[in-house]
Amino acid sequence: MERIMYFDYAATTPVDDRVLRKMIPYFGIEFGNASSVYDLGKNSRDAINIARSKVAESINASPEEIYFTSCGSESDNLAIKGIARANKSRGKHIITSKIEHPAVLETCSSLEREGFEITYLDVDKEGLISLEDLERKIRKDTILISIMYANNEVGTIEPIDEIGKIARKNNIIFHTDCVQAVGNVDIDVKKSNIDSLSMSAHKFYGPKGVGALYVRNKIPFMRIQDGGHQEREKRAGTENVPGIVGLRI
Ligand SMILES: Cc1ncc(COP(=O)(O)O)c(C=O)c1O
Repeated sequence: MERIMYFDYAATTPVDDRVLRKMIPYFGIEFGNASSVYDLGKNSRDAINIARSKVAESINASPEEIYFTSCGSESDNLAIKGIARANKSRGKHIITSKIEHPAVLETCSSLEREGFEITYLDVDKEGLISLEDLERKIRKDTILISIMYANNEVGTIEPIDEIGKIARKNNIIFHTDCVQAVGNVDIDVKKSNIDSLSMSAHKFYGPKGVGALYVRNKIPFMRIQDGGHQEREKRAGTENVPGIVGLRI
């Protein structure tokens, strides 16, 4: 069947030609492993570091707060499991909402099986959480709030600045799934008191199979995948250099 129009840019976007052109050399002539000590490896490493700085700049973070992953789902898993496990001596209670993407909901279910307790906030008919409800559900042992920035089905934008303020006031780590927001809204992690944020390149004219995670300096979090020393010990696996270059040009 002939396709006339494509409107589902929340599902995925095509790779922009300018992005593709920047990526192509890293499939071919610049194929080096970013961990190699010789020049070819250094070129890949440099390309990753430029991308890291650009991603950081786009959300008002620092480059050392950015970790590259394989997708938005992996970023959510790494953030939520990594933060929960690293902070469990402080408490085992997490607050999220009922309308999160499965990348968050299934991660929370998995943590429940590890002994964490999860509170799932209701939303109103617009898809918004209630800030009063959020404050009421905070407990002494709450270590993490994970609320999405923009919903993937109905497009609701949650009151991120207010959630950030509540989290900071109560000394609770705030993660937000920003997969549907990056590229569509201005994001400032400092202004919004965001401690952790996930994104995925294929939602904003980049390639599939690459994501990024921001975690604020000093927030304890641990790797969830064992292996090499890539991404400052937080995400093992040879870096997807063309993908990373295509995540932010
Ligand atoms: C809100 C939200 N979070 C996470 C994801 C998962 O991202 P990825 O497809 O890169 O794993 C999606 C994908 O649709 C999404 O819309």
